[in-house]
Amino acid sequence: MSATMPPSHESEAIAVAAERRWTIVVGVIIAVLVLMMIVTGLHWASMPPSRVETIDVKTVHVRGEFVESNLGTAIEADDRVVVRLVAQQYSFEPQCIVVPAETPVTFRATATDAIHGFIIGRTNANTMVVPGFVATFTTSFRRTGEQLMPCHEYCGTGHEAMWARVQVLPRDEFLARARPGERLRCVAR
Ligand code: CUA
Repeated sequence: MSATMPPSHESEAIAVAAERRWTIVVGVIIAVLVLMMIVTGLHWASMPPSRVETIDVKTVHVRGEFVESNLGTAIEADDRVVVRLVAQQYSFEPQCIVVPAETPVTFRATATDAIHGFIIGRTNANTMVVPGFVATFTTSFRRTGEQLMPCHEYCGTGHEAMWARVQVLPRDEFLARARPGERLRCVAR
């Protein structure tokens, strides 16, 4: 840039250079983000997530794992604690879930109509529940007491009224109530 240039030209040149630099920086950021989308898209398409469990929505209530009498908390033959629940507009079944504290608890959930989801209080228990699929995760609860379990995917006009409760009992108390083959639900306390 020549020193004989009038100051106004010089400052315009500086501004243009700065804008060009930012254009390049923003262009690179956009290119990286688009590349990330392409790479993750191809990756998911070529290697779908494992353990995808599907279920026939039409027969969920009629037969299989999610019939009403099988919902709630069970102690399986291998001593695992498994909670089974169904989400539907606009409630969870069961409405109140009982689990032991300090114990790995596996949740298995499915939906019958729309996409729902739930999160349990301030724990890390959090999942979407999609019709046709079984959502499953294992977690353990550190503190005893009652937690709210709201639906956190907008599922229709009754969404905000869709929630259940989770009662976390001390492990001994839970085991004392558990009967082999029975499904536990909440108790009055
Ligand atoms: Cu179910 Cu929102």
